[in-house]
Amino acid sequence: MRTLTGIQPSGTLHIGNYFGAMRPAIDAQSRGDCFYFIADYHSMTSLFDAAARRKNTLEVAIDWLACGLDPKRCIFWRQSDIPEVAELMWMIGTLTPMGLLERAHSYKDKQAKGIASNFGLFAYPVLMAADILLFDTNRVPVGQDQRQHLEMTRDIAIKFNQTYGDTFVVPEAEIREEIAVVPGLDGQKMSKSYGNTIDIFGEEKATRKKVMGIVMDSRTPAEPKPDSEKNLAIQLLKLVAPADVATDYENRLRAGGLGYGDLKKALFEHYWGHFAAARARRAELAANMDYVETVLRDGAQRARAVADGVLARARKACGLR
Ligand code: TRP
Repeated sequence: MRTLTGIQPSGTLHIGNYFGAMRPAIDAQSRGDCFYFIADYHSMTSLFDAAARRKNTLEVAIDWLACGLDPKRCIFWRQSDIPEVAELMWMIGTLTPMGLLERAHSYKDKQAKGIASNFGLFAYPVLMAADILLFDTNRVPVGQDQRQHLEMTRDIAIKFNQTYGDTFVVPEAEIREEIAVVPGLDGQKMSKSYGNTIDIFGEEKATRKKVMGIVMDSRTPAEPKPDSEKNLAIQLLKLVAPADVATDYENRLRAGGLGYGDLKKALFEHYWGHFAAARARRAELAANMDYVETVLRDGAQRARAVADGVLARARKACGLR
């Protein structure tokens, strides 16, 4: 059972990314056969700064490695280190109906926002399908926003198999149920576009200030708060503190006597402690970029062993040499 997913190299990661996507992917390593890559080709559809792409790609690599991605227990590479994925994109692109791409939500959303479109943006789902099909992938864990892309991948795989004979594994989407939508500093879903994030590796002083700045209601510390489970700091504390500690704070807030300032202070301390080991690993990795580069290249070499076989099969199936 092979699991594969692509990671966007799109800048600073926050704890919503961590609890929503990263931790499940990191945990999945213990169940074996995980393929993870950094989608730097995909980033070309919307980022046109070479230095920023190079930087973002390596930054996201160290973020994931620091958080527990283990190159001994998964295969982790940079998409563009296996450029054959672009060849596969061509092969399957010729079987992808225009109408299918024209119906893509992600593309339509970008158009509606007036973002200048380009062929790459339009073809984004075909490249994503190639990412998946190139590695005989069985399962693709993704967020709800990627559901349609997975359906397109399946359609394309089925069409290819019907046209040229059985070639590709038809993958299943594993849509991540948002176990906990991680709330942001303003109570909306945590998202970079809302500017309400707590970064995983944010700077200490600035992050403390952000956390202490969470707006609460005007009830006095002494007042009992029967709705304490709805308190934003409590919800965040439940993610970063041991369960009994978070419950204790929740009960004290409910009973009355716990001030919001003290609660937020506790939230910050537990957040800081929760990521302490990862922060130390990240500093080590950042000082050892040669190692990070080696990890990615070694990952690409191992992933290539699978890709070569699938590509040869696909080329043969459609009458190429
Ligand atoms: N489109 C995905 C996202 O926005 C990233 C991605 C690229 C991906 N290729 C993939 C995800 C292949 C899963 C499988 O998050």
